Amino acid sequence: MTDHLHISIQHLNKYYTGQNSHEKMHALKDIHLNIKKGSICGIIGRSGAGKSSLLRTLNGLESMSSGEVYVLEHALSELSHAQLIQLRQRIGMIFQHFNLLSTKTVWENIALPLKVAGYSADKIKQQVEKLMTLVGLESKAQHYPSQLSGGQKQRVGIARALIHNPEILLCDEATSALDPESTQTILQLLQQINQTLGITIVLITHEMQVIKQICHEVVVIDAGEIIEQGQVWQVFSSPQHQITQDLLQRNIPHFHSALSTTRAAQHRYHALSIQYAHAKNQLFDIQTLLRPFPSAVLLHSQVDQIQQHHVGQLLIAYPIQPSTPQITQQNSLSSLHIKEHGYVESII
Ligand SMILES: Nc1ncnc2c1ncn2[C@@H]1O[C@H](COP(=O)(O)OP(=O)(O)OP(=O)(O)O)[C@@H](O)[C@H]1O
Ligand SMILES: [Mg+2]
Repeated sequence: MTDHLHISIQHLNKYYTGQNSHEKMHALKDIHLNIKKGSICGIIGRSGAGKSSLLRTLNGLESMSSGEVYVLEHALSELSHAQLIQLRQRIGMIFQHFNLLSTKTVWENIALPLKVAGYSADKIKQQVEKLMTLVGLESKAQHYPSQLSGGQKQRVGIARALIHNPEILLCDEATSALDPESTQTILQLLQQINQTLGITIVLITHEMQVIKQICHEVVVIDAGEIIEQGQVWQVFSSPQHQITQDLLQRNIPHFHSALSTTRAAQHRYHALSIQYAHAKNQLFDIQTLLRPFPSAVLLHSQVDQIQQHHVGQLLIAYPIQPSTPQITQQNSLSSLHIKEHGYVESII
């Protein structure tokens, strides 16, 4: 494994054995994945896709059935139990439901891993104070988890996960239990941790919004398989797999309502979605792109800034013509993805 990779997963398979030991559930199927040092990699998929199983194999919480996982240059299958415990100190983890001890204060929750590891009181105080400042919880040291908001509880979870100065942080649905505002602040904190401390972050989520906001790379898994992966701006502007497209369109509430008339009897319009991306410093002319559709009606338009790109999504309806108009790729575009969505009867 080259040293710019923090994680390398090769031919990983994971089976769970059911009640009946003859029944095997193939939860992870021949997974290959490299995660670069200092990157934020998002793993997305529907419920039951295998996200948590995959994340948990990275710190040995879940065993693998075959294949190999290299983490920080260690082959996990070759480690003794003691070596695995040692490696885990270099891999922090945070959870959807925070996993805090309710009978301990914020200070004690964060300090616990160091106490267990037998550090001196001075060292513990120094490290806990540093982390409470990092996550912005200085004023809550003596509070109990029940006295905190969800976002504050997750800050405690993050501080505790960073207590051993890890090189990797694993996040299992870290913002799924939070309201939109707390989600924003936690995502910003994770981004700050990545940028200032250089920690590699692997996060799993079922929300494309989370991926869009802070990830560099995205991996889409379904039924235990990687079905798509790439840089975030690329996957958002040119999703190849139907499941990725569905996950993305869930982001746009009115996308489906705009198409709700597609089942009508009398077809007069075609609906077309156009996804495109161009580098921020490239000028792009939407008029030129839509020139083949002089009578098009714009049903939806959205432009997001993702990494160094503008990623746009258009939904248009155009009158049915004898021959389908052709959209031509413009030089300034980094990607262009066009999809027919059937017919629209009337446009309000
Ligand atoms: N300990 C277990 N024993 C048996 N089957 C399991 C076990 N853990 C998970 N599974 C099965 O493996 C599959 C993947 O589960 P996993 O928890 O990794 O999915 P997930 O993508 O994290 O889902 P969610 O989004 O709901 O958290 C599921 O079908 C699940 O039922
Ligand atoms: Mg899960």
